[in-house]
Amino acid sequence: MKQWVDKLRKERTLNQEELRQLLTHCDTETLCYINGQAREVSLRQFGNKIYVRGLIEISNCCRNNCYYCGIRKGNPKVERYRLSTRQILDCCRKGYATGLRTFVLQGGEDPALTDERIEKTVAAIRKSYPDCAIALSLGERSREAYERFFLAGANRYLLRHETSDEMHYGQLHPAEMSLARRLRCLHDLKEIGFQTGTGIMVGSPGQTTDHLMQDIRFIEKLRPEMIGIGPFLSHHDTPFAECANGTLEQTLLLLSIFRLMHPSALIPSTTALATLAADGREHGILAGANVVMPNLSPPEERRKYALYNDKASVGAESAEGLRILQKQLRAIGYEVSTERGDFVAADY
Ligand code: 5AD
Repeated sequence: MKQWVDKLRKERTLNQEELRQLLTHCDTETLCYINGQAREVSLRQFGNKIYVRGLIEISNCCRNNCYYCGIRKGNPKVERYRLSTRQILDCCRKGYATGLRTFVLQGGEDPALTDERIEKTVAAIRKSYPDCAIALSLGERSREAYERFFLAGANRYLLRHETSDEMHYGQLHPAEMSLARRLRCLHDLKEIGFQTGTGIMVGSPGQTTDHLMQDIRFIEKLRPEMIGIGPFLSHHDTPFAECANGTLEQTLLLLSIFRLMHPSALIPSTTALATLAADGREHGILAGANVVMPNLSPPEERRKYALYNDKASVGAESAEGLRILQKQLRAIGYEVSTERGDFVAADY
């Protein structure tokens, strides 16, 4: 199996059979080896610096009913909230003071967050923080909306495709949602000039090795600047309440595969990974991730943004805990970077 890892590092791709073997026969030793190789590539590209992004969860109101997600429309138990522009700016102010230079505005597809409202919020952040990157993670919008956000000063957009298989997409989402529309959004975002992120949940219900292979190929073709990979974690008030969580091992394998295929991509060690295992975030970094996204949301709203059970939002997961995070990273030989951390293509 090691030979496929070496080949993947060298050629940044594998053929279907090699990839299948790696996905299906990765034992502990191979996992350790591929994590180490991916870590080396990440160190060569970024040094021991981990970029930090302040995550502001601006609304948990959502018009969609994704079967996996805790804040789906059909969950009547969610206490809904929406931050005002002032509250969002306040989060940015606090984040800036702690050294954060990227703000990520994430939320459900909330019809009350009109294009105009988002545009104004982005413009206000842009005006107050000309040296910061603004990333949005607000789901599917029209091309015109994305253009307005970009012109107002947003630089990045995160929109996971979740799965690139039509049938599997249909198992995760209700009929009114469509993979084609999701992909159209991703292409629009890229064309407009956003640094664009996409990704999947590892171990989502119904996911097969073939699906993972398709996702790897899709991302290989799209060449996104950011790749978000985290384990699926069940939420007790969703149709997938009884489904098993994704595993640490498979998530770390996928992280490393993406790092070896995309040396300069920005890859976060996700909150879901940190929720799955106490040392999940460190494992993610040691498997090739180079970004962490501490939570900057108002502390009293955080528990309401529960995408899955027991979502971590305090300690090193929080912006207040940046010192804890620094300590955790130092313990494994890394440092928090205070740079914006834009995407820069590898020069080799
Ligand atoms: N488990 C893990 N990740 C989830 N997300 C949503 N629900 C879950 C869940 N139950 C992820 C999706 C989405 C991102 C914001 O959070 O991939 O794109």
